[in-house]
Amino acid sequence: MSKRVLIETVGCQMNLLDSEMVVALLRRDGYSVTHDVEMADVVLFNTCSVRQHAEDKVYSALGTLRRWKQEHPDRILGVLGCMAQKEQHELFARIPYLDLVVGPGQLQRLSELLAGAAAGERRQMAVSLGRTAGSRDEIRRSHETFDPLRDPTMRPTPFQAYLRIQIGCDKFCTYCVVPMTRGPEQGRPPGAILREAQTLARQGCVEITLLGQTVNSYRYETGGQTTDLADLLFRLHEIPEIQRLKFVTNFPPDMTPRLLQTVRALPKCSPYLHVPLQSGSNAVLRRMKRGYTVEQYRDMMHGIWDTVPAAAVSSDFIVGFPGETDEDFAGTVAAVREFRFKNSFIFKYSPRPGTKAITRFPDDVPQDVKLARNNELLAIQDAISQEDNQRFIGRTVQVLVEGPSKTARKRAATGPRLQLTGRTHCDRIVVFEGTLQHVGAMLPIVIVEATAHTLFGRHATRSAMRPGHFE
Ligand code: 5AD
Ligand code: SF4
Repeated sequence: MSKRVLIETVGCQMNLLDSEMVVALLRRDGYSVTHDVEMADVVLFNTCSVRQHAEDKVYSALGTLRRWKQEHPDRILGVLGCMAQKEQHELFARIPYLDLVVGPGQLQRLSELLAGAAAGERRQMAVSLGRTAGSRDEIRRSHETFDPLRDPTMRPTPFQAYLRIQIGCDKFCTYCVVPMTRGPEQGRPPGAILREAQTLARQGCVEITLLGQTVNSYRYETGGQTTDLADLLFRLHEIPEIQRLKFVTNFPPDMTPRLLQTVRALPKCSPYLHVPLQSGSNAVLRRMKRGYTVEQYRDMMHGIWDTVPAAAVSSDFIVGFPGETDEDFAGTVAAVREFRFKNSFIFKYSPRPGTKAITRFPDDVPQDVKLARNNELLAIQDAISQEDNQRFIGRTVQVLVEGPSKTARKRAATGPRLQLTGRTHCDRIVVFEGTLQHVGAMLPIVIVEATAHTLFGRHATRSAMRPGHFE
């Protein structure tokens, strides 16, 4: 009987994609996937180091697996991803029964390491070089991702996929571990990206989200020729099966007019831009080393509004960064009010070992102040999202149907009709009633109700569609 692997994934889209590829690799080696830990021969955690909380949760989950491992010592327990890279010296010491530690740039070696562990070799580790542990080329190579094997069954839906166009990050924001865990910024060759997109299209994928830590900084140079994200979008746009193209996450200073014009020119490009501002205070932005001021971000927003008027822009914020005063925070509140983001992800600052901020700036904003600022900003953003979503009421939007809604998944089916969920071109979530046959289709939906995070609608019949109201 084939061996069974359980993989638990936390963190960003990069990790979801890495897990998809790991499963494809292990399936090729004869493994099958299980969701039941008692049935699993191998348990892998694909981990995140961006905040302390994410690491704590993994350590605690690893702790609960002590019995699981002791009962059957031939079972294999592994940590993959950013924590494996960052905690390479701590993991085996803290979890003595751990078998594998594999950094995000070394996942291609997982087959070999698992085989070694199965043969009784203990404490196998594969991590990339640190940012100063070799020549630039050696460091880069140690962070290379493996030749992608895609496994549509591992994706939330087979018709949507992530495609990595860039690995690593060179921006070194002072609070962030990513440049250490994922290494130097490297653009993947355009030919490899196109081939992968064509494979995805053949597998039935209609929506591709291009991934990069600073995706709009993407560059690939060869033979005196440079390819940037706009060039890539033009080439991907020609794949007939692909209906939607998205890209995340953008770095504000690299949002060029040419890229915005490309988004406007290419109908398959979603008018959706995730461009984290992080703080509305210039003093904080400077300490974060973000490389822009609020004024420059404002100019960029005007560029977006002028070029792609229908664009939905979303952001990330860190509250309670060292030294953040009430006035600094008031600047963030003012920015959220001014820029009216579609939504914002708000995080409380978490000091990370290995970053500049942890050595330069004491974590001096009290936890309760961080929490209060987090809640206040969230409430302001939600009120804006709720207000802005009202203008969709009565409009017809094109929705790519993803599957049963959360509510439908919890409820037992009572007939062929059920609550479905999907997204508009501008990345808004829409919930409506339909049948399982609709999953994967692009449907016109008339919006009848709107909350901060969800639009509710019904499937529009042709006569009910009003021309000129497509999103
Ligand atoms: N503390 C809190 N939030 C962080 N982020 C990155 N590093 C930290 C940290 N040390 C947030 C940023 C980033 C998002 C993915 O996570 O807002 O955009
Ligand atoms: Fe981290 Fe800044 Fe790079 Fe984003 S741009 S991954 S926040 S260092």
